[in-house]
Amino acid sequence: MKYKKRKYFLAGRINLIQRSKIRELFEKARKMENVISLGIGEPDFDTPEVIKEAAKRALDEGYTHYTPNAGIPEFREAIAEYYREFYKIDVDVDSILVTAGAYEATYLAFESLLEEGDDVIIPDPAFVCYVEDAKISEAGIIRIPLREENRFRIDPDELVELITKRTRMIVINYPNNPTGATLDKETAKAIAQIAEDYNIYILSDEPYEHFLYEGARHYPMIKYAPDNTILANSFSKTFAMTGWRLGFAIAPPQVIKDMIKLHAYIIGNVTSFIQIAGITALRDKRSWEAVENMRKIYAERRKLTLRYLNEMPHIEPFRPKGAFYVWAKIDPELDMSSEDFAEWLLENAGVVVIPGTAFGKHGEGWIRISYATKKEQLIEAMERMRRALEKL
Ligand SMILES: Cc1ncc(COP(=O)(O)O)c(C=O)c1O
Repeated sequence: MKYKKRKYFLAGRINLIQRSKIRELFEKARKMENVISLGIGEPDFDTPEVIKEAAKRALDEGYTHYTPNAGIPEFREAIAEYYREFYKIDVDVDSILVTAGAYEATYLAFESLLEEGDDVIIPDPAFVCYVEDAKISEAGIIRIPLREENRFRIDPDELVELITKRTRMIVINYPNNPTGATLDKETAKAIAQIAEDYNIYILSDEPYEHFLYEGARHYPMIKYAPDNTILANSFSKTFAMTGWRLGFAIAPPQVIKDMIKLHAYIIGNVTSFIQIAGITALRDKRSWEAVENMRKIYAERRKLTLRYLNEMPHIEPFRPKGAFYVWAKIDPELDMSSEDFAEWLLENAGVVVIPGTAFGKHGEGWIRISYATKKEQLIEAMERMRRALEKL
């Protein structure tokens, strides 16, 4: 079919959304040959077999219909069970909403809780979707810098300074994308106390909770501020299920009820047989064995990446304890912006990394390297980077 050349009228809010800079770089790399991407934020593993089998079985058993908007009751129970077993947190089934990944959980939180005249505090650097979600919700955006000297944790004193009468929500994300930083119990408690004192929501995005190294632990915010927290979580990273679009939100039941109103008219419910496979993911021992196996492989790659980066000139990695990213500082003496450096690496080493500024202006001077890449490719990319940087 041929469409007429004409001007289409669009809602202004659509123009507020910025296409991710990450994609622009990927598009350039796609046109080049023999490029290794350390840009992607997605597990390179396949979904564990036991979960795939459960989805196939569910299809054969007739799970092909609508489900309740909030999700299949047994699946919500399995999520509650999981929090009890892993973190000793009692979660009410009514406070769980099954979503299409953490993306949807985050979007619903922004759209149901914020409006024009409200402010949201978003870390800088931060994963790209929060700022775009905030724009659509018409909330004002206040960025809180994450500093290397604080190990990229939010400084509670700085947070208090930024809170005004308009502040309704703060976003946190640990283990963190892009820095790989983790949270400690003291900071988690301090943020929880501030949220309670000032009556603000915490949107806590926790999809990397199982990828922890060197003895690091995860502190789910619902444990410390249950009345104020909207937790977004996902099967995407934990079980290498990015394409399945499976996640959930946990929040006080009144908030969940409001989020369901919107969710019901966007997707209705998450795909029925995928929810059934989600039950297996959470309850079957074999899927957890697969998670631990993936974690061990990430741990090995992390070590390897850090060893290489520590030996390279002109680059200095932050030692991350979580996720599957290394956040690395570009030698200031090079006088190159993050974008220039990433482009230079692409052209001179054939390696894609993400410029830190894709995550906020405080990402200037940094790059994000993903080690969710096969070991041989990772080694080759590191060798190429070393050779290129040694020539500078
Ligand atoms: C911090 C963070 N939150 C959310 C998402 C989106 O995850 P999902 O696939 O669950 O929507 C990602 C994906 O990269 C992420 O890194």
